[in-house]
Amino acid sequence: MVKICCIGAGYVGGPTMAVIALKCPKIEVVVVDIFEPRIIAWNSDQLPIYEPGLDDVVKKCRGKNLFFSKDVEKHVAEADIVFVSVNTPTKTQGLGAGKAADLTYWESAARMIADVSKSDKIVVEKSTVPVKTAEAIEKILTHNSKGINFQILSNPEFLAEGTAIQDLFNPDRVLIGGRETPEGQKAIQALKDVYAHWVPAERIICTNLWSAELSKLAANAFLAQRISSVNAMSALCEATGADVSEVSHAIGKDTRIGPKFLNASVGFGGSCFQKDILNLVYICECNGLSEVANYWKQVVQVNEYQKTRFVNRVVSSMFNTVSGKKIAILGFAFKKDTGDTRETPAIGVCQGLLGDKAILSIYDPQVPQELIQRDLSMHKSELDKPPHLRPMNSVAIEQVTCVGDAYEATKGAHGICILTEWDEFKTLDYKKIYNNMNKPAFVFDGRNLVDIDKLRQIGFIVYSIGKPLDAWLKDMPAVA
Ligand code: UDX
Ligand code: UDX
Ligand code: ADP
Repeated sequence: MVKICCIGAGYVGGPTMAVIALKCPKIEVVVVDIFEPRIIAWNSDQLPIYEPGLDDVVKKCRGKNLFFSKDVEKHVAEADIVFVSVNTPTKTQGLGAGKAADLTYWESAARMIADVSKSDKIVVEKSTVPVKTAEAIEKILTHNSKGINFQILSNPEFLAEGTAIQDLFNPDRVLIGGRETPEGQKAIQALKDVYAHWVPAERIICTNLWSAELSKLAANAFLAQRISSVNAMSALCEATGADVSEVSHAIGKDTRIGPKFLNASVGFGGSCFQKDILNLVYICECNGLSEVANYWKQVVQVNEYQKTRFVNRVVSSMFNTVSGKKIAILGFAFKKDTGDTRETPAIGVCQGLLGDKAILSIYDPQVPQELIQRDLSMHKSELDKPPHLRPMNSVAIEQVTCVGDAYEATKGAHGICILTEWDEFKTLDYKKIYNNMNKPAFVFDGRNLVDIDKLRQIGFIVYSIGKPLDAWLKDMPAVA
């Protein structure tokens, strides 16, 4: 029986291993983590991450061929294939701070693997890491190997949060990079055999190590670039009277462009896009490619601009001040169907509004109050870390309350900001909400989710990203 061990029971390691266990009943899969509460949660009815369909998969295999354990060393020692899916935040200090990936967790995992191994192993890079990390890891492993053979593979994960199970069941492609030696090719084949249980052979792409590592960064950079491109267009649409949804639809019909990932928004978030682009920028700079670095940097800058533009729009619409005004924030997660807040645009928007002394009432169906308070009181450089690795800040922000539903959040508010596209926000009783708000009542839709005409009929002044502006908004000071 092949044994797989995955180091890191997070958003990537947990769901990926659960699906491998489900699809490969003859393989034993153990997911290990040094953070014990996470392991306890994986072994309970309340899984540590919210992901549609995940509960079912875990229930079907847990205790059979899927296990969660804090006994990291034991399970690594017993495994044939070790996936490494630890966190790789952006460095906050020292060389490359703010751009380079912090490989501390990776390095310590690699040293531990070398320490405890007594048999040959395939070590699989699963977390996004800078190009050439595999080489560094290979050096750590072989210099400490005591005669054991380690083969390093890069097998980047392309799942998106909220659709992880679907993405894992039916991936566009599985990418496996390895050494071009006979041993390297044998290792690639062994991992291919795992995926071949459910992924058609033509969707399994095999490349060299560097291509696999770079493809992951490139895929995320291209996806983020599409969003920044459409968001840049949204600013121009507002200035000209064009409608960004119509523009997206029209350009998406070109098969060379394609229709997906063209939704204008208040900005992209999530643990990957910004981190991976900054990483790419850093690698370019290290290689003396400053023009290429500047090109990609602009994708992040436009994303920042989009958040600032949104805040400016809110403030300028409301007579240039939100001081002391209650603003309802609907949605805090970086996208719907997840409770994850890493790099969520909601943080930047809320901090911007707080900077203008607004009173915020926040509702998100999945994000707990403590996490919201912690995110809003934190320094930007800490924000892409998973919640348990962020410093605790016990000082709750007085201007912020978190409430249990959208009606409570909006009661007595002057304005509503929709920051996550949760389905339930589409079907709210906006007439009732309007009646309970201060007038004029504003809706700022950062996800183009509401029916603008319907809301305007009710009496709201509505701003939607990239849509023709209300007469009211046109009369207000220009937004930079
Ligand atoms: C992303 C990649 O999609 C995935 O392949 C990779 O493995 C990890 O990073 P994820 O961050 O989970 O996945 O979510 P994704 O659906 O890509 O959304 C990222 C951000 O972009 C979200 O904030 C989302 O709201 C935003 N977005 C997405 C838009 O603003 N507009 C769009 O059209 C699509
Ligand atoms: C383009 C648009 O494709 C077309 O829709 C529009 O109406 C006019 O502009 P055209 O300039 O005729 O058409 O050729 P196109 O095939 O788009 O190529 C433009 C340039 O991009 C060429 O120099 C081509 O060699 C280059 N190119 C194209 C690349 O370098 N790489 C590619 O992958 C595709
Ligand atoms: P991702 O989104 O990439 O899955 P997460 O931050 O959600 O990242 O998960 C990474 C997990 O890896 C965390 O739960 C962390 O505790 C765990 N981890 C980090 N270093 C080690 C290590 N050396 N051994 C075991 N687990 C580790």
